Amino acid sequence: MKRVLTMAAIFTLAVSCGQNKAQKALVLYYSQEGHTKTVAEQLQAALAADIEEIVPVVAYDGDFMATIERGRKELDEGVVPEIQPIKADIGEYDVIFLGFPVWFGICANPVLTVLDELDFSGKKIVPFCTFGSGGLDSSVKTIKEKQPDAEILPGYGVRAARIEAVPAELDRFLKAGGFKEGEYVELGEFSEEREASAEDAAIFDAAVGDYPMIHAKAVKVASREVPGGVEYLFTAEDLPREGAPSGPFSGEMKVYVLAEVGQAPVFTQVIR
Ligand SMILES: Cc1cc2nc3c(=O)[nH]c(=O)nc-3n(C[C@H](O)[C@H](O)[C@H](O)COP(=O)(O)O)c2cc1C
Repeated sequence: MKRVLTMAAIFTLAVSCGQNKAQKALVLYYSQEGHTKTVAEQLQAALAADIEEIVPVVAYDGDFMATIERGRKELDEGVVPEIQPIKADIGEYDVIFLGFPVWFGICANPVLTVLDELDFSGKKIVPFCTFGSGGLDSSVKTIKEKQPDAEILPGYGVRAARIEAVPAELDRFLKAGGFKEGEYVELGEFSEEREASAEDAAIFDAAVGDYPMIHAKAVKVASREVPGGVEYLFTAEDLPREGAPSGPFSGEMKVYVLAEVGQAPVFTQVIR
């Protein structure tokens, strides 16, 4: 009983009446390796929306390094890849769920083409993405720059390594955004940021430890109770890497970490 009362004090049970549900929705996405496609298909099923895949004329079908090389070269040269014509008439839709893998910190190149070539003025865009470590926020900035007359709603991003978390997270996300009806747990605010203790640092290290792209130390932390455990928001600082050229390791980053009861802590998103 005490536990139930404690839960009630921490979480607010909200009810979405699905006020956005009646809007006509299109799920428009690019996916090279299938992670974003998984999210797109779950969105399509949840919303009974139309769905279309963005298809480059010349597929990025090489291995990881080949895609990195081609993608980087296109960005450096300011060239977006040609894509097959989009069949959907954007004008018919109220809201477009725009999905992409994060490439080089922003939307994957074929989605940059869509943002350059299609007009989303007056439409609502809900960005969704998958990533190795993060990039939703920086991608949203790019979308805003390229489509200044669209309304960009809060987006959803998930690490490819946590793709199994998508059904539950997407359900909450859609209810909180008013796209789906039903009860959901409204998460509280994070606590004030405090200096990271040795115990906090151990949680941070356990969460990012075997991820090669993060070599950092926890400096500050805020936290909040979430269903099933605690979510941490760390401020961390890049550490110099052995064998790498010295500095600038100026990077301060924000790292979200989820510590569920009985599970090893995992990081869910990095914001640089
Ligand atoms: C060319 C390329 C660049 C990438 N750049 C980033 C990046 O900047 N940040 C990141 O977190 N992940 C990055 N990734 C990882 C992808 O975002 C991640 O694997 C994504 O889930 C792939 O989605 P998909 O399976 O739908 O293609 C990159 C992957 C590729 C191929």
